[in-house]
Amino acid sequence: MYNKIMEEELLRIKNNAVSLILDATSPKELEEIRLQFLGKNGEVTQAMKELPKLTPEEKPEAGRLSNEVKTIIEDAIKQKALGLSHKKPSKRLDITEPGIKPHLGNLHLITQAIREITEIFKPLGFTKVRYPEIEWDWYAFESLNFPESHPARDDWETFFIKERPDPKMGPIILTPHTSSGQVRELQKGNMPVKMLNIAKCYRRQSDVSHTPMFHQFEGLVVGKNISVADLKGTLDYFVKSYFGEKRTSRIRPYHFQFTEPSFEVDVTCGVCLGKGCKLCKAGWLEMGGAGMVHPNVLKNGGVDPEKYTGFAFGWGVERVLMMKEGIEIDDLRLLYSNDLDFLKQF
Ligand code: DAH
Repeated sequence: MYNKIMEEELLRIKNNAVSLILDATSPKELEEIRLQFLGKNGEVTQAMKELPKLTPEEKPEAGRLSNEVKTIIEDAIKQKALGLSHKKPSKRLDITEPGIKPHLGNLHLITQAIREITEIFKPLGFTKVRYPEIEWDWYAFESLNFPESHPARDDWETFFIKERPDPKMGPIILTPHTSSGQVRELQKGNMPVKMLNIAKCYRRQSDVSHTPMFHQFEGLVVGKNISVADLKGTLDYFVKSYFGEKRTSRIRPYHFQFTEPSFEVDVTCGVCLGKGCKLCKAGWLEMGGAGMVHPNVLKNGGVDPEKYTGFAFGWGVERVLMMKEGIEIDDLRLLYSNDLDFLKQF
C-alpha cells in the first residue's frame, strides 16, 4: 500500500520536473530546477529517503522506480542545456551587413561538354536531336548492316530487355551507341541531313575507363556529292575548335558495319603535340570512328544511294573530354558517383 503512494508521488514529481525543464529559458533557471528536484533537499532525494521505511518486498520496485525518475530528470536537463547553448544570442538586424552567399552549384562536367560540342557544330548547320535510349534492335543493329552473329549483339556487350520482342524490329535493347539514330533520322525524309545526335548509351562494362552508361555524339551528313573530303574537313574543324589550334587529326582505315570506307580518327596528343611521349601511341590518341554511310544503311532509311551519299562519325563525350588538356580524371566512374567534392572542381 505504502509502495503505491510512493509510486504516485514519484510520477507527480517526474511530470512536474519535465514540464518545468521544457519551459526553462536560461541555464540559470535550469540549474534552479535541478536543485529543486535532485539537490540535497530536492524532491526526488527526499522521496528516496523514504525507501528504508518500506517492507523488504516493496523496496526493490520502489528503488527501481525512483532511480528511473532521477535518470529521466537528469537526461531532460542535459538535453535542454544543449538546446539552450545552440540558441544564437538575439542580435539587432544590421541591414548594412553583407548577405550570406547562397551556393549556386554548377553544371555537371558532361553537361558542360555536351553544350560546348553542340555550339561547335551549330555554325556548320548541324541540328541537335535525340533518339530513344530504349531502342529496337533493328535501329541499333539490323538496319546498320550488323550480321546476327556480330559480337556487339551478344548479351555480354549489350543490355537486352526480355519482354515484348517484335517479329520485325527484334528485341528491345538499351541503345549501345548513338548510331541507332542514323536510320531514324533518314526516315524523316528531310534532305539534306545534318544531324548531331547526343545521347546516353549503355554497355555491359565497368572499370576505370568505362561506365555502363556513357554519352556519345553522332554526326550524320547526307546529301548530294558528299565526300571523304567533307568528313575530313568537318573533323579537323571540330578538333581545332574543341582541343585548340595546336592539335590536328588524321584518319586511318578501319572497319565498321555501317560505313564504307570506314576510318578510325586520331588526334595529336595534348602533351607532346605529336612528337611521341609515354602518354600516347607515337604522338596520337584515338578519338573514335567515322566513315562514308554504307549504301544499305541509306536504303534502310528510304534514301536512294544512287542519288545521295553521306558521312557519319560517332565519338564518346567522356572520351573527348579526357583527351582535353588540363582535365585529369583517374577513374571515369567518379563522374557518376555523385560525389560533390569531385564534381565542384569543374
Ligand atoms: N557507333 C560506333 C561505336 O560506338 C562508332 C561509330 C563508328 C559511329 C563509325 C559512326 C561511324 O557514325 O561512322 O563504336
